[in-house]
Amino acid sequence: MEKRGQFTSKFGFIMASIGSAIGLGNLWGFPYKAGMSGGFAFILVYLIFVALVGFPLMICEFAIGRKAKSNQIYAYKKLNKKFAFVGITGTIAVFLILGFYSVLGGWVVNYTVKYATSIFSSANAISAPEEYFNSFVSNEAVALIFLIIFMVLTVIIVIGGIENGIEKSSKIMMPVLFFFLVIVIIRSVTLPGAEKGLEFLFKPDFSKLTPSTMGMALSQMFFSLSLGAGAMITYGSYLSNDDNIQSSSIIVPLLDTLAAILAGIAIFPAVFALGLEPTQGPSLMFITLPAIFNQMHMGNLFGFVFFALVLFASLSSSIALLEIASSFFMEHFKLKRKVIIPIIAAIITVLGIPVALGFGVLGDVKVMGMGFLDLYDFIGEYVLMTFGALATAFLIGWVVKPKEVIDEMEQGGKFKFVGKKYFSFTIKFIAPILIFIVMVMSVTSVF
Ligand code: TRP
Repeated sequence: MEKRGQFTSKFGFIMASIGSAIGLGNLWGFPYKAGMSGGFAFILVYLIFVALVGFPLMICEFAIGRKAKSNQIYAYKKLNKKFAFVGITGTIAVFLILGFYSVLGGWVVNYTVKYATSIFSSANAISAPEEYFNSFVSNEAVALIFLIIFMVLTVIIVIGGIENGIEKSSKIMMPVLFFFLVIVIIRSVTLPGAEKGLEFLFKPDFSKLTPSTMGMALSQMFFSLSLGAGAMITYGSYLSNDDNIQSSSIIVPLLDTLAAILAGIAIFPAVFALGLEPTQGPSLMFITLPAIFNQMHMGNLFGFVFFALVLFASLSSSIALLEIASSFFMEHFKLKRKVIIPIIAAIITVLGIPVALGFGVLGDVKVMGMGFLDLYDFIGEYVLMTFGALATAFLIGWVVKPKEVIDEMEQGGKFKFVGKKYFSFTIKFIAPILIFIVMVMSVTSVF
């Protein structure tokens, strides 16, 4: 078996963890949900969830991973034999999430290339966005080719290993991402009429805070911070005992949340300034935004900057997903990266095919009333990740006790864990109870 990889610097570790966290969840999930579900009221609830649930769980995942120095299934098993299944549900979640993520990533590759090759052209890169999107996703061959291209990019980085693949690429992609985000924001907020977009995003409407929007805020938080599916356990397992985890567990949630809010400030002022309707998910990113770039001076250039930033965000998340999906198999079967990673990637690509074709030939196929994209998202994000987060909070708070995590953080007194009391209290009482209540409320509100 190969030697276990390790992050070589704290900066590299933080960039990789932020890379996992910042992704499509921040760029198209958060802004739209916030805008439609109460603006600042939603953002406030979200921030409270981050502080009371996300932050202590992030500490748990980093600590569980670093202590076990193994994949998540073994890591949970080491803490308590009966909890190995949380590692299994986390691994299944990751397969499903990457199954649809890679399809969306493929679309992003297509758009990035399209804009990149049109930067110097005077004609619009995508002159009829709606037709372009529809014909692109309904063409089976094209839909599959871009899924495969995105997966191959992901495989190349992950095969490089922790230090030379994941850490190195994240150290480049994340700073560029924030830089590009700032460029897009400056352009967006300086358009005449931009205030209406800021109003959409921030104007508080507490009447929109219903059980179902709160449930949405909670699962959005888990997805965005990559919590509840073993992502941070896996990355934490590549940390040495000489690193202090405390600062990372504060910086990662902070920057992830900042990126989500900044994404809203980048997108909605432009949408409203140009008199378009705020839409959601794929059509926001692939139809509404290209329509905006068409009306903008140097629109092809801004389109390129925007899609390159989305590409970096999705690629740094997909490498995390592929690493997590592979880590158990790598250790269990004692296989080399070169061997196992392409195999896992191939399996996930096959899982992605129905999603890719779900916008074309399989458009009418519904399972439990959902298309494949929504189905994978529902099972992976809403069901399995929420479950994983609840089980982890319960395991640490009540079964192994918070002290286990605190000892791991402090390394026999080498480091001081400043928020100890806050951590113990939130992980024992607040996090599990809050997750449980919100889950019950949002499930019952459906009926
Ligand atoms: N957090 C990413 C996003 O916001 C998605 C993601 C990356 C993820 N890695 C993960 C979700 C691991 C769950 C588990 O888009």
